[in-house]
Amino acid sequence: MRTAILFGLVAACSTPAAPDPYAPPALTDTNPDPNIVEVNLVATPATVELLDGKAADVWAYRDGSVAGSEARIPGPVLDVPQGAHVIVHFQNQLPDPTTVHWHGLRVPNASDGTPSAQVPVAANGTFDYEFDAVDAGTFWYHPHVQGDVQVERGLYGPVVVRGGVVPDVTADRVMVLDDVKIEATGQLSTTTDPLDVMLGRQGNVLLVDGVKGGTVTVAAGGRERWRFINAANGRYFNLVLPGHPFLVIGWDGGMLEAPYTAEQLLIAPGERYEVLVEFPEAAGTSLELQTVFYDRGHHVPDPGPLDLATIEVRSHERDVAPLPTTWGTFVPLTTDAATPVQKVVLSEEEAGLSEPRFMINGAQYPAVPPVPGVVGSTAIWEVRNDAEMDHPFHLHGMFFQVLDAAGVAPVHAGWKDTVNIPQMTTLRFAVRYETPGRWMYHCHILEHSERGMMGELVLQ
Ligand code: C2O
Ligand code: CU
Ligand code: CU
Repeated sequence: MRTAILFGLVAACSTPAAPDPYAPPALTDTNPDPNIVEVNLVATPATVELLDGKAADVWAYRDGSVAGSEARIPGPVLDVPQGAHVIVHFQNQLPDPTTVHWHGLRVPNASDGTPSAQVPVAANGTFDYEFDAVDAGTFWYHPHVQGDVQVERGLYGPVVVRGGVVPDVTADRVMVLDDVKIEATGQLSTTTDPLDVMLGRQGNVLLVDGVKGGTVTVAAGGRERWRFINAANGRYFNLVLPGHPFLVIGWDGGMLEAPYTAEQLLIAPGERYEVLVEFPEAAGTSLELQTVFYDRGHHVPDPGPLDLATIEVRSHERDVAPLPTTWGTFVPLTTDAATPVQKVVLSEEEAGLSEPRFMINGAQYPAVPPVPGVVGSTAIWEVRNDAEMDHPFHLHGMFFQVLDAAGVAPVHAGWKDTVNIPQMTTLRFAVRYETPGRWMYHCHILEHSERGMMGELVLQ
């Protein structure tokens, strides 16, 4: 579907001389059929600059349809209209096996990109992923083999599925949040210390769309839509933009029925949030998008607010239309006393071990017994976090609806695929089993999932 891509390019090229780093390019659609988006995605070693003029050897994605295209962090955006049929021809030019997982997209199991659903794509191998873009929203893609290493090296990219209510905005941006641990040489650190394992690697350089401390220019009197994706291995982003509350219009599963205002926006690894921000100030003002401390457990010290990007207000472009009066729709699942309850316990063990262990129901994946389920049925999952730190819980293949955490119902309703479970807390969610296959569930702190905090839901 070529028109959609042209649309994306126009948005990305408003300043052709210097491409806007906060408008990552879209993957090229090579299929003339308006209902099909067909792209070529390549994973490859590459060199980028993460720290002031210094080269970093990374692994990254590039657009395989554009001769000589450069690999970039984040990878090019898979930007598709809702309802399109998507074909991704993937080529692995890495020295190691990999897969591409479409985080949050409701895909057939064979295209879920996990080792439970496919044989990993060998070095120099190829694989075709194929699915329909069922839900409008913001998602992302990343490997599901050695996730802690491969995602940290730079393999992640945004997915935007356009559809539904479109609020009038002066810019619609994907903002992928990450942090990397960089040596003074500018290279990614290759050592994993016990703290990296315990908390998920927390970097010393914060990136928004692969850029450290960049500048986002916005129009005075404008309104922007920011689609945040937390692609970090372990960092929690707790966003603030002083004086500018976020109007949260959507999250993992798409647009909310009732948007809400947040002064601070906590985004755990794997989660997405879509917000609107308005800039009533005069041209010439600048402000900082920051992340502030969130107590995720294990006595992590408060480093104070950290700057992510400078927002510079430039001249007025145009007035924006009033906000829509209706947004998404949300029909809650019905559950009752007869709904089966699946109990999951997340735990960690440290004492006397050289490296902490992360477990589900006392076992480490792949020794965690699979959870069986029947397509068409509804279940309640009761996930107890028995650890002294938060764990972001992610389920593949379907969305769920949080019922309560520590017995308290959530204030805002909507579909999630990743949810933070606070330390020593039980969270319950309802889920409808939709698609047959082997679906992974795990902590999205990738050091944890790759060290055992992962399981499978097997639906038939
Ligand atoms: Cu973001 Cu199992 O994935
Ligand atoms: Cu996922
Ligand atoms: Cu965890």
